Amino acid sequence: MATILVTGGAGFVGSHVVKLLGQKGYTPLTYDNLSVGSAESVVTGQFIQGDLADKDALERVFATHPIEAVMHLAGSIDIRESVSNPALYYANNVVNTLNLLETMRKHGVKTLVFSSSAAIFGYPKTAKISESHPMEPISPYGRSKLYVENILSDFDAAYGIKSSALRYFNAAGGDPDGKVRNSKKKETNIIPLVLKSLLAPNGTITLFGTDYDTPDGTCVRDYIHVSDIANAHLLALEQLRKNGISTHYNLGNGNGYSLREVIKTAAEVTGKPVRVIEGPRRPGDPTLLIADSTKAQKELGWHPQYPSLKVIIADAWKAIA
Ligand SMILES: NC(=O)c1ccc[n+]([C@@H]2O[C@H](COP(=O)([O-])OP(=O)(O)OC[C@H]3O[C@@H](n4cnc5c(N)ncnc54)[C@H](O)[C@@H]3O)[C@@H](O)[C@H]2O)c1
Repeated sequence: MATILVTGGAGFVGSHVVKLLGQKGYTPLTYDNLSVGSAESVVTGQFIQGDLADKDALERVFATHPIEAVMHLAGSIDIRESVSNPALYYANNVVNTLNLLETMRKHGVKTLVFSSSAAIFGYPKTAKISESHPMEPISPYGRSKLYVENILSDFDAAYGIKSSALRYFNAAGGDPDGKVRNSKKKETNIIPLVLKSLLAPNGTITLFGTDYDTPDGTCVRDYIHVSDIANAHLLALEQLRKNGISTHYNLGNGNGYSLREVIKTAAEVTGKPVRVIEGPRRPGDPTLLIADSTKAQKELGWHPQYPSLKVIIADAWKAIA
């Protein structure tokens, strides 16, 4: 079966994409610099340690493997860090993506599934965010993702590279089989942060803002299980290979959970009390971020299998504890 290059395949989402590709009979080829991910998370296929900034290494990968399509997940993902260090975000997320696209172009690889983000939308103007929502990102991270989406549209028009941009909301959960461990070197997502606070002696979690206009005063987010995201990658790949039409999808469950609900559920699932510190709001945190994924449901036949917050947290715990 087809060889699929997975950049960032040693990271949180990428390692689940790699696992699913292997299960479905594809040959995944992981390319990751291990800046955040770890090699033991790659449970199947070949792993190559390399950086997207290294054009010669990329060239060698494409020259020596029969790559049919690329799933591009590698990137820097910390919204707050992108505000203090935008140079890193534009270099890693935009310039390095251009390196990848140029190498694909040179080798005639014309199919790409790209990890975009809900951060391209900025502050929500509607209760749920569909693909027609205005794209007004409020961070360098969000802008870097939007720039790449625009580049992809130009590369389709000029060079025929077909892409599907998947804008995930909050990726969460873990491998339901417990095989893929979450061994990231740096954590920024709230559910693993809460869970890791339970493993550290005297660990705490800070709630940034408890006076939002929500029932319990904390921000509400749409958590989507990483296995459901991996499945969307596969469906997007298969659709692109079938119809060759570039597109983009918002991926979420369409349900919002507040941070306090996350903390309460984490305590229930683990049987451990979570020590919470209440802090001030952080600039740039929208009150609500909830996806409208009707387009993915209709066009890809994508239906999340793990929508329950309890299951999402239980699977995340399995991968961490
Ligand atoms: N986690 C989320 O909630 C979320 C939401 C929306 C979008 N995304 C996007 O999905 C993708 C994957 O996210 P994740 O949560 O798995 O993040 P992650 O940090 O776990 O994975 C990213 C991987 O890319 C690797 N990497 C980074 N820069 C690289 C480079 N220059 N060359 C080679 N490898 C490099 C890292 O080592 C890491 O393994 C990212 O592009 C992210 O922006 C994530």
